[in-house]
Amino acid sequence: MKLDDLYQAAKSVQKMAYAPYSDFQVGAAIKDEFGNIHIGCNVENAAYPIGCCAEQSAVSQMRAQGGQQIKHILVVGREGQPCPPCGACRQIILEHGDQKTQVHLETEGGSFQSFAIRELLPMAFGQSHLDK
Ligand code: THU
Repeated sequence: MKLDDLYQAAKSVQKMAYAPYSDFQVGAAIKDEFGNIHIGCNVENAAYPIGCCAEQSAVSQMRAQGGQQIKHILVVGREGQPCPPCGACRQIILEHGDQKTQVHLETEGGSFQSFAIRELLPMAFGQSHLDK
């Protein structure tokens, strides 16, 4: 699939990231089940652990705008380098995705590498484990 629109969206929101502590700006763009795009950037805090990742912020945007399912999410960090979602973000992407949800990362060669969220988070804890 063509990733230009998601890539442009992720690159533009990356500039809005608030990352004075890590100096590592991240942008994420989601395509939902309606084909709508939602964006998010990381927002850090002087109390480090309460900072928010770009992916998480994009998921909040998606939910606020009526999207319920991540079909594609593209993440950008340092130019031309992959920025794999952290463990917590993988769990969040899984919760709001489906079997086919794809995670797209930039590669050194200037193209993209794509993964199913399922392969990035094998044996994931999920809703079914809460069943009695
Ligand atoms: N970060 C993200 O926003 N997403 C990722 O996938 C990896 C890390 C943020 C968290 C923190 O603000 C900064 O990047 C450095 O870890």
